[in-house]
Amino acid sequence: MSLKPANNIQDNHTFGEFGGVNPSISDSATYTFLAGKTMGDTFEGNTEGCYLYSRHTSPSNLHLSNALAAMEDTECANVSASGMGAITSVIMQICGTGDHIVSSRTIYGGSYALMKNYLPKLNINTAFVDITSLQKVEDAITKETKIIYCESVSNPLLEIANIPELAKIAKKHNVLLVVDNTFSPLIISASKLGADITIHSLTKFINGMNDTVGGVYCASNEFVTNSKSVMDGAAMLFGPVMDSFRSASILKNLRTLHVRMKKHSENALYISQHLENDGIRVVYPGLKSHKDHKLMTSLYNAEFGFGGMLTIDAGNLEKANLLMEVMQDKGIGFLAVSLGFYKTLFNAPGTGTSSEISLEEQKEMGLNDGLIRFSMGLDNDIKRTYKIMKICLQEVGLI
Ligand SMILES: Cc1ncc(COP(=O)(O)O)c(C=O)c1O
Repeated sequence: MSLKPANNIQDNHTFGEFGGVNPSISDSATYTFLAGKTMGDTFEGNTEGCYLYSRHTSPSNLHLSNALAAMEDTECANVSASGMGAITSVIMQICGTGDHIVSSRTIYGGSYALMKNYLPKLNINTAFVDITSLQKVEDAITKETKIIYCESVSNPLLEIANIPELAKIAKKHNVLLVVDNTFSPLIISASKLGADITIHSLTKFINGMNDTVGGVYCASNEFVTNSKSVMDGAAMLFGPVMDSFRSASILKNLRTLHVRMKKHSENALYISQHLENDGIRVVYPGLKSHKDHKLMTSLYNAEFGFGGMLTIDAGNLEKANLLMEVMQDKGIGFLAVSLGFYKTLFNAPGTGTSSEISLEEQKEMGLNDGLIRFSMGLDNDIKRTYKIMKICLQEVGLI
C-alpha cells in the first residue's frame, strides 16, 4: 500500500500563542464564555473554538488528537490517560448489558482480562477466537455481537490480522471492527484498511520515551462526539482524561515517530535474521518464515518496515529468565514490560505481560513459557548488539 501517515502528521501543525513553534499548553480545567447561549450550545456538542471543561476536551488534547487522527486518516480522535482508558471508553461506548464481543485470543493481557473477567460482571461476554481463521471469527458472531476486536500485530505472538477481510465480515454482520494498532503505528494504517475504530496505547512507540502512559481512539466524528457527550458519553462520564502537559509532551515526541519506527524495524530485522541463521526459533513478521509474512507485506506501509517487536523461543522459563538476566547484565537492554523505548526491552510474556491468560489457554494459543518478547531499541550499532547477544546465547547454551 502507498499511504503517507508520516506526511499527514508532519503537515498537521498548530502554532502557539506569540508565534511559538509548538502549540501553547492549556493550563486550565475550565473555560470562560462570553455569552450564556454559547455555553449551552457547547454542552450539546463541540462549538468550534470553544472549550467547556478539560475532562471533555482541552486545546492541548485536541492538538494531539488531531495529529493522531491525521496519522490514521480518520475524521476524529480522542486521547485518554492510558491505552486501557481508550479501550474501555470504546467498549463501554458501544456495548451494554447483554451485548457480545468476538475478540482475538492473542491480545494484550490487560485487554484480555477486561473482556474475560470484568465485562461479564456487566453481562457483556466475549468469544475468544483464532483471529487468523476468518471462518472461526464469522462462526463466533451472534445476534448480540457488537464488536470484532483484534490487534493488527498481536501481543505477544505477533500474528497479523487480515484487517480488510475482517472489515468485510464486520460490515456483513453490521458490527464494528475495533483494531488495537499499538505494535505497528505508521506501519499499518488500520482505519484505511477497514477498521471502524483504531486504538493505540501511546505509552509505547508513539510517545517512545517511557515517561508516561497514554491512549487514543481514532474514529468518525460521530463516534468521538458521542463518546464525549455530557449525557451518555463513556469517555466523558468515566473520565479517563489525559493531562494537558502530557499531551503537549507526547505531541512533541510524535514528531519523530517516523524516524524511530524505521530504526526500530531496521534493528529488529537485523537481529531476527541473524538469530534465525544461528538456529534460534524467531518470530518476526519481516522473516519469510513468519506464517503471515505475505499478508503483512500486502498490508504494511513498506517504508516503515516490519516493526520493532520480535520473539524468540528459549525452550523453557528457566532458560528464558537466565538469558534475560545475562542480556541485562551485558547491557543489551532491560528486563521490563512495555515496548517502544530507545533501549531494548524484554520479558517472558507467559509470566509477565500475558500472565492474565491462564496457563491452559496460553498453551492452547501456542504461548509457551520459554517465549521471550523483545522490543528492539534504537541502537546505533546493531552489529555490536548482535555480537553481544550471541555471547549471551552461547553463555546460556542456546547456541
Ligand atoms: C497492545 C497493547 N494494547 C494496549 C495496552 C494498554 O496500554 P496502557 O498500558 O497504556 O494502558 C498495551 C500495554 O501493554 C498493549 O501492549
